[in-house]
Amino acid sequence: MKISWHGHSCIRIETLSNHTLIFDPFISGNPTTDLDPKSLSVDYIVLTHAHNDHIGDTALIAKNTRATIIANPEIADFFEDQGFKTHGIGTGGQFRFDFGTLKFTHAIHGSTYNYQGQQLALGVACGVVLDDGVTKVYHAGDTGLFSDMSLIGPVNVALLPIGDNYTMGIADAITAAQLVNAELVIPIHYSTFPLIQQNPYEFINRLPNNNGYVPQVGEVIEL
Ligand code: NI
Ligand code: MN
Repeated sequence: MKISWHGHSCIRIETLSNHTLIFDPFISGNPTTDLDPKSLSVDYIVLTHAHNDHIGDTALIAKNTRATIIANPEIADFFEDQGFKTHGIGTGGQFRFDFGTLKFTHAIHGSTYNYQGQQLALGVACGVVLDDGVTKVYHAGDTGLFSDMSLIGPVNVALLPIGDNYTMGIADAITAAQLVNAELVIPIHYSTFPLIQQNPYEFINRLPNNNGYVPQVGEVIEL
């Protein structure tokens, strides 16, 4: 599996089966990204929740690539109504795709979408566990800390928000890393905006198992 971080919560993953997934493709308006949404090539778009800094460029990318949008059932219905290929998964549900399985987990967070000046209520926020048969990755999405994270792991990689204000901050994300029993911990959802400014090196330096890593934007991690 190849994993790369593209600013905020945007993660690109190439699975063992050579499928490309992009999680939370907030690219336009993201000051920390290296991607061009017009030239992206992906097979699947996975959304943790509907907030605009997560749905991001989903419609544009799906239009160009005909990628399937995988999200909670309310977000999936919203995009299906617009003619996109979608697959809805509810909290606690799992489905086997051609690249492996995805399981949607609990997250403590909202899921409204500001669409053409209206606030649409699109289900609940989730985390996502991807298992390509060899590697298990937990993308926590946006969430506060909850003790049932101990039911999600063990995982090879945990992608955890550390930005604080809207999600967990550093101290709670350190607890989360232990609860999910992750081999490798990567911080996300920080320093995109002034309200979520954080030092990711403080986070990895304080991890008791010394198992954190701060990738550069676009850097590919091979597992
Ligand atoms: Ni959010
Ligand atoms: Mn967010």
